[in-house]
Amino acid sequence: MGWSRVPGRVLLAVAVLLAAHAGFGAPAVEAGRDAAARGPVTLATASDLTRYLGPLLDDWNRAHPGEEATLVELPDSADETRAQMIAELRAGGGRFDVLNLDVTLTAEFAAAGWTVPLDRGDYPLDAFLPPVVETATYRGRLHAVPYVTNAGLLYYRKDVLEREGVRPPRTWAELERQARSIAPRYGLDGYAGQFLPYEGLAANATEAVRSAGGSFLGDEGERVTVDSAATARGLAFLADGFRDGWIPREALTYKEEESRLAFTGGRLLFLRNWPYVHASANAPGSKVAGRFGTVPLPGPDGPGTSVLGGSNLAISAHSRHPRTAADLIAYLTSEPVQRRVLTEGSLPPVRAGLYTDPELVAAYPYLPTLRESVLAAEPRPKSPRYDQVSLAVQAVVHDALALRTTPGEAVERLARELAEIAGRD
Ligand code: GLC
Repeated sequence: MGWSRVPGRVLLAVAVLLAAHAGFGAPAVEAGRDAAARGPVTLATASDLTRYLGPLLDDWNRAHPGEEATLVELPDSADETRAQMIAELRAGGGRFDVLNLDVTLTAEFAAAGWTVPLDRGDYPLDAFLPPVVETATYRGRLHAVPYVTNAGLLYYRKDVLEREGVRPPRTWAELERQARSIAPRYGLDGYAGQFLPYEGLAANATEAVRSAGGSFLGDEGERVTVDSAATARGLAFLADGFRDGWIPREALTYKEEESRLAFTGGRLLFLRNWPYVHASANAPGSKVAGRFGTVPLPGPDGPGTSVLGGSNLAISAHSRHPRTAADLIAYLTSEPVQRRVLTEGSLPPVRAGLYTDPELVAAYPYLPTLRESVLAAEPRPKSPRYDQVSLAVQAVVHDALALRTTPGEAVERLARELAEIAGRD
């Protein structure tokens, strides 16, 4: 049994015993002792899309002498950031105080005892979009505070579709037809998402599979549900795109940024990506500024299913200054700062009221569509083993998209591998 699977309570007890025995000072994680401690803190986060955070933390620092917050930037992919956070937490280090955790990690970090459970009464949860609060809970307890949300959207070249006199696609058949027939006439590739093996591919595959009515696992990750014709159909939608060429092979290497650059570089008719692309696609240097639109992701017979993305802020169990960490979280999730998350960070805020604020809706006309997409989005399974599930999905789906296996074979292989993961103690 690896240490990662030892419940946090047990680890804590062992750590306390060892410390007492060896005559060391008590570890910072020791229950309660340091809960009121204040002092400098760090905010550990993936390094993409963080430019707006500097000024937010500068404002905090000016108002909180002696409790300054420093940004620790980890790699930009969700998976590598997770790995670095875990390496630090397993080593018992106090380098991170506030963790900006991808919504897929709440269960794993909570089950391992790496985050401090929070008191619901301390945070205005009613002011947040409801599905987003769900992503911060595990087994009924709040383990983090929602910070940024996300939902997959379809970006399309409005100029091209208008010239062709067609509406943006609502179904897979329309998407495929337009990507196949229209894109080549304009020297464009048809469609891309994020298909490199990493969490982004797991998100794209989940969207295709859920849109077709299939799934990989039950919501709490307790049941393997992958073995269905609907799941195979979802994977076939993407695999057919690669086979028939309306998804370029290059997209097998795309994460968010590579795929965004293909679209803003004017090389792509359709792009599946998160809302952050709006700002950069309209910024100087973009070849599609003012010439694109967004619609909900298409599905087999009408709008499909987006995955619910985003990140939540948690307090590390090894934080030396948990009281300051909690205050910093309250600041970053407050209404004024959430407004700046949208206006300066171009990221979707978690406060519901901002989505209907007339001034913001005028400046960001996509807010109502985004709100609908977030409210309808499906969470990924809440499993402490989500990382293992995701790795299996990534490897198997990538093989199917690279046409090394058929969607049917992919489903069979996943049924075996996910059952094996679910059966691990
Ligand atoms: C975005 C989403 C996150 C997702 C990741 C995948 O950052 O907010 O939830 O896991 O993309 O790349």
